Amino acid sequence: MATSRKDQPLRAAASPAMHLVHRPDSTGTPLHVQVYRQLREWILAGTLRAGARLPSARTLARDLGISRNTVEAAFAQLRVEGFITRRVGSGTVVATTAAEVAPFAQRPATTPDASVPTARLSRRGAVIARLGIAEMEEDRLSSVGATDVRGFPSEVWRRMLARRARDGGAGILRSGDPFGLRPLREAVADHVRLTRGAVCDASRVVIVNSTQQAIDLATRILLDPGDAAAMEEPGYPSARAALAASGATVHHIPVDADGLRVDRLRAHRTVRLAYVTPSHQYPLGMTLSLPRRLALLQWAATGERWIIEDDYDSEFRYARHPLAALQGLDRRGRVLYVGTWNKVLFTGLRLAYLILPAPLVEPFAAARRVTDGFSSPLLQAVLADFLSGGHFAAYLRQARAHYEACRDTLVAEIAARWGTAVTVGPSDTGLHLVTHLRSQADESRLARRAKGHGLVLTPLSRHYAGEPRQRGLLISYGGSNPAAIRKAIRELAPDVTRRSS
Ligand SMILES: Cc1ncc(COP(=O)(O)O)c(C=O)c1O
Repeated sequence: MATSRKDQPLRAAASPAMHLVHRPDSTGTPLHVQVYRQLREWILAGTLRAGARLPSARTLARDLGISRNTVEAAFAQLRVEGFITRRVGSGTVVATTAAEVAPFAQRPATTPDASVPTARLSRRGAVIARLGIAEMEEDRLSSVGATDVRGFPSEVWRRMLARRARDGGAGILRSGDPFGLRPLREAVADHVRLTRGAVCDASRVVIVNSTQQAIDLATRILLDPGDAAAMEEPGYPSARAALAASGATVHHIPVDADGLRVDRLRAHRTVRLAYVTPSHQYPLGMTLSLPRRLALLQWAATGERWIIEDDYDSEFRYARHPLAALQGLDRRGRVLYVGTWNKVLFTGLRLAYLILPAPLVEPFAAARRVTDGFSSPLLQAVLADFLSGGHFAAYLRQARAHYEACRDTLVAEIAARWGTAVTVGPSDTGLHLVTHLRSQADESRLARRAKGHGLVLTPLSRHYAGEPRQRGLLISYGGSNPAAIRKAIRELAPDVTRRSS
């Protein structure tokens, strides 16, 4: 196989070691870092053994066709980290300690790729790694949660961020509070009281990085390994991963037009915690009916069980009367309400919040302190400014109108172009809807075909832990626009309606 020039190991140089170093390329990683990494790899692999002599910086620089300063910078880094020693007279030599501690020092020399280790993980670590790899693979395949970041008032945000960074005052650049920044907790409490009918004040709010972190903390604090947890089937795959990662036994409870089948949940007597999406069942989109809400609260209250209410996209409700949160009906302190800014503002923000029953506030903040500390005070301050300055309300009005236009276009186009080949699930909230396939069209094939058409389609089957009971497509329009939607639905029509029954 032909190798490119940059892949060619150097020809004979001052030391055999130099056959190993490849010419740095211009892929964006600084040149000295590339040289440093290569040498470090070879030392760690045991190929460059203790006492092995490296060529002078000048020779190496000449052979690699880079500047001497670049090589000096790489050597300096290796020396600081203890991989090499440099002495006048004896030159640059691989340090004994580095070679001894190198995990593969005793192994015969191989290429770095062939010697990539398989770490021996704990049982728990292996489970988490497996779940995480599957989640990352999903992220790579689709961007289901994407939002229309073009509509976000980035300029306002940038100005606020710059101002806070410049004169944020005490606390912004120092360690933060595991409970969260007080002004943000207050703004969050106002927001959920006003818009979601939640019952709370700032003392019950704990700021976290994400819904994912909120679920993780809840499992750490409320479940022991082997305890039973429950969630909806189909449901949110990332929540399933977080529950499973805790070592819980996860029961998957079916849903119907009224949401979670609480009677089926009751059948699993040992369940201690249930994760639910009452306002907008993920992924199917129905709302948990009032009788079911009351039954669910009753279930939790009688057995001292917990409910995680994930209220991930209620800000985008297009029907006239928004449904209040389940938390607002909870009189027995069993609901942990989770809201996220990562969906309503932008995914990269990493700020979310929990509204907790009073006795859980301190344990959650304490757990946060132990597991990762706190969320960035700087970003929390900027978000608090954004909320209290009225920018969020203004943005939400405009974003809701945009998404509503997307939703309307999507529903109308599906009816016109896909006709009886599909039925469309509830669509009055959020940034996605589900179409159930009545034709024989292949879910996965359609999802692949949609790529490059401006819409994200995900097979419904991916949201089932067990055997999928329905075939369909989750269509995410959060990152799209009406023109792209029209085009995509039209272009996919032949595939969707093919062999329609
Ligand atoms: C059901 C559900 N919950 C929560 C979130 C947001 O998660 P996070 O705050 O962890 O980014 C999403 C994002 O797509 C979601 O689909």
